[in-house]
Amino acid sequence: MNLEKSQSKKIFVLGGDGFCGWPTSLHLSNIGHDVVIIDNLSRRNIDNELEAGSLTPIQPMGTRLEAWEENTGKKIGFYNIDIAEDYDQFLQVIQSEQPDAIVHFAEQRSAPYSMKSPKHKRYTVNNNLNATHNVLCAIVDSGLDIHLVHLGTMGVYGYGTAGMKIPEGYLDVEVQTESGDRVEQQILYPTNPGSVYHMTKSQDQLLFQYYNKNDSVRITDLHQGIVWGTNTEETKMDERLINRFDYDGDYGTVLNRFLMQAAVGYPITVHGTGGQTRAFIHIQDTVRCVELAIANAPAREERVMIFNQMTETHRVNDLAQLVSKLTGGEIAYVSNPRKEAAKNDLHVKNDLFLSKGLNPTTLDNGLLQEVTEVAGKYAHRADHSKIPATSTWTKEQKPGVPEAKEESSV
Ligand SMILES: NC(=O)c1ccc[n+]([C@@H]2O[C@H](COP(=O)([O-])OP(=O)(O)OC[C@H]3O[C@@H](n4cnc5c(N)ncnc54)[C@H](O)[C@@H]3O)[C@@H](O)[C@H]2O)c1
Repeated sequence: MNLEKSQSKKIFVLGGDGFCGWPTSLHLSNIGHDVVIIDNLSRRNIDNELEAGSLTPIQPMGTRLEAWEENTGKKIGFYNIDIAEDYDQFLQVIQSEQPDAIVHFAEQRSAPYSMKSPKHKRYTVNNNLNATHNVLCAIVDSGLDIHLVHLGTMGVYGYGTAGMKIPEGYLDVEVQTESGDRVEQQILYPTNPGSVYHMTKSQDQLLFQYYNKNDSVRITDLHQGIVWGTNTEETKMDERLINRFDYDGDYGTVLNRFLMQAAVGYPITVHGTGGQTRAFIHIQDTVRCVELAIANAPAREERVMIFNQMTETHRVNDLAQLVSKLTGGEIAYVSNPRKEAAKNDLHVKNDLFLSKGLNPTTLDNGLLQEVTEVAGKYAHRADHSKIPATSTWTKEQKPGVPEAKEESSV
């Protein structure tokens, strides 16, 4: 699909070198938007710190952008800026480029990484809160009417409800005043963060409420589920455009980690009993949802628009069984490094994206097979010693390393 010229916008993608940001940048450029990536490449530096890289061979930014232009004739701009630190430089680029929309992916996004040590906790808080606040402050400072689309997470809600479906951002409540009157109100659905990372995402919400109320900044906050898959239509065009694939104990997310483990002959490691239920979305739908969010910007006086960006929920153990059936991989149950309930249910509303035209890509064997094939193709690049989760939520917890085969397999 190509946009009409009048619908084409200048869009900044903050964090456009990352797992979600790179395919989103390509997609927005492909449909006709003028895309500029801003990224400080901190995720690549974290790869160096952890000595664990992407399973897929991601290219330097210069090569990625050249390959994109060669394949499509379209240019994507790039600035290496730390938006949490370099406020003046960031503001200057906003003033000179005058974007219509900013998509904000630029945060430290791993819960286990945020729990590794006091240094990692402090880095995650400083980076994420300053990044988000700087973006809001710079939008107001620039005097431009820029629509901000932010990537939040379903995880802020703590994976449990009182049996109700998690609404899209707001909860209707009735309170009793001192004079006995009952007053109806809408409040932000309460968060219940389960890691320092999730805590920063909960706090982002308050920054959005404030800047929306005080400065009428137009904001869409996308509460995203766990992203799975690796390729999108655009990243498949050329091997140099390949997306990153995290498989290590800190950054590897649950379904991709299982598929990779099966592909390289490592046990499919389930944390705890696998009774946790999580929300999921395929990477192809991530890029489509961001496109829809940009096309449906709220009006200037409207409140922060909050979408649940997920398409389905699954119990972790069911996913492990599914991957095991598909690949013949064996399952190993290891101690859960997180401090959380052994089992939870999760019910989530996602009517808003469906009403805007999202046609969900749900879990299907073909797509699971595709991820397994990508993982198999690059299996020689995997460092098996980086697969176990080593960050724990409390000092008493043990890391999730599979034990001897006979004892751990079921
Ligand atoms: N991957 C998922 O499953 C998932 C699920 C829910 C929500 N999200 C959210 O989506 C966003 C992107 O996630 P991802 O998986 O692409 O993460 P990622 O780590 O792959 O990408 C984040 C990018 O932001 C950049 N960045 C970080 N701090 C920066 C700063 N201060 N200045 C400039 N650039 C900076 C990094 O270098 C990286 O390229 C995150 O905010 C995350 O919370 C991701």
